[in-house]
Amino acid sequence: MNRPERKTYFLKTFGCQMNVYDSERMAETLARDGYSETSDVDGADLVILNTCHIREKAAEKVYSELGRIRDVKNERAKDGKNTVIAVAGCVAQAEGPEITARQPAVDLVIGPQSYHRLPELITRTTVDRKHIVETEFPGDEKFARMKAPRRISSPSAFLTIQEGCDKFCTFCVVPYTRGSEYSRSVAKIEAEAHELARAGAKELVLLGQNVNAYHGEGADGRTASLADLIRTLAAIEGVERIRYMTSHPRDMSDDLIAAHADVPQLMPFLHLPVQSGSDRILAKMNRKHTAAEYVDLIARIRKARPDIALSSDFIVGFPGETEQDAEDTIALIEAVGFAQAFSFKYSARPGTPAAGHGDQLDEAVKSERLLRLQAVLDAQQVSFNAQSLGGVVPVLFERKGREAGEFVGRTPYLQLVHAAGEGDLIGKTANVAVNETRRSSLSGVISAA
Ligand code: 5AD
Ligand code: SF4
Repeated sequence: MNRPERKTYFLKTFGCQMNVYDSERMAETLARDGYSETSDVDGADLVILNTCHIREKAAEKVYSELGRIRDVKNERAKDGKNTVIAVAGCVAQAEGPEITARQPAVDLVIGPQSYHRLPELITRTTVDRKHIVETEFPGDEKFARMKAPRRISSPSAFLTIQEGCDKFCTFCVVPYTRGSEYSRSVAKIEAEAHELARAGAKELVLLGQNVNAYHGEGADGRTASLADLIRTLAAIEGVERIRYMTSHPRDMSDDLIAAHADVPQLMPFLHLPVQSGSDRILAKMNRKHTAAEYVDLIARIRKARPDIALSSDFIVGFPGETEQDAEDTIALIEAVGFAQAFSFKYSARPGTPAAGHGDQLDEAVKSERLLRLQAVLDAQQVSFNAQSLGGVVPVLFERKGREAGEFVGRTPYLQLVHAAGEGDLIGKTANVAVNETRRSSLSGVISAA
């Protein structure tokens, strides 16, 4: 008897780490269902785009990609091959049936809360031969249903502990696409962390849209904070490093700050978006804190962990932003000093309060302010990295580099490091003597394992 050919899937991920995590989980579910992954879209029986809706550009990319995939689907159909096209992630959640209306070649639109039903829904698209849109909110816990064993693609493993957001910043689609805050229980996270550690993970990156608002059910039935969870996970054998993202300044509690002082596995790096340095704009953004409160918070965190490296997100050109507001943001950057940061032009997102403001700025103004802001941030990143020159840093190696014999890893401060090494360094931590620094990476030689 002929064995049935294994079906293949092509999976492309857009956007944040939470989508990367979800894509890994979908891949595990599909593997259990007999699929194997391919990097060749022409040869794929199933194409999944895991999408991002945070800014207009990200969402539009999905439609141009879908146009190309439709052509592939039509070509394959000439050879009698069926191709299922699925759109997952935040565009799926936000736009639902609009996607199939705009691109009828799409068979399945599936929101983040329905991923455990992926195999069943794929089968239904091929049997029923009609579009399926599955974007219901919770009901079931998707994590509990995604039972496929965890695999790791890197010694630094993502682990989603919290989803959704109740903050309602006026520019942001997340509270609408990912819904209200939900925290997984400590027991479930701990079990998954053990699985990841057994599979070879050395670093856990705890993910959530508003991760430091974490409040999951603890082992004793009481609510556990992110700090409690971190202390629990730090006790797992093999877990050498812990990180978490993305946090909101208002949820930076004292116990979490204390964990930065006394949990050695918790890395001295914090991504804490501030978005703007103008109190007027912060209020219009509904960020629930002032610039001074942010600066004061940073001072308290630095008191607990003086060497902590800071990262942030900035939005320039929010509706009504004046030249003075833009300068206030630069002043905040100068006052804090960031090791790295992400910055974006404001993008009006349908359905968010700020999109309806009458005082939207010109693209040219936004572009000019973005360049100005990025020049300051880039200079800070250059000087942060330059401090490592001539020093020795412990690097957890994650993957091979482009050059022969080269490995790529990260310092505790999340700096990317390139170094040549013998044998297989992936998953190992080695000291690297830094002999070159650039804006976004360091290079060096391994001095001792
Ligand atoms: N326009 C521009 N940037 C945005 N972000 C979120 N929504 C928007 C928007 N409408 C940025 C914020 C957030 C990061 C993930 O994306 O800075 O922290
Ligand atoms: Fe969006 Fe973050 Fe604000 Fe939540 S806290 S609404 S995810 S920007």
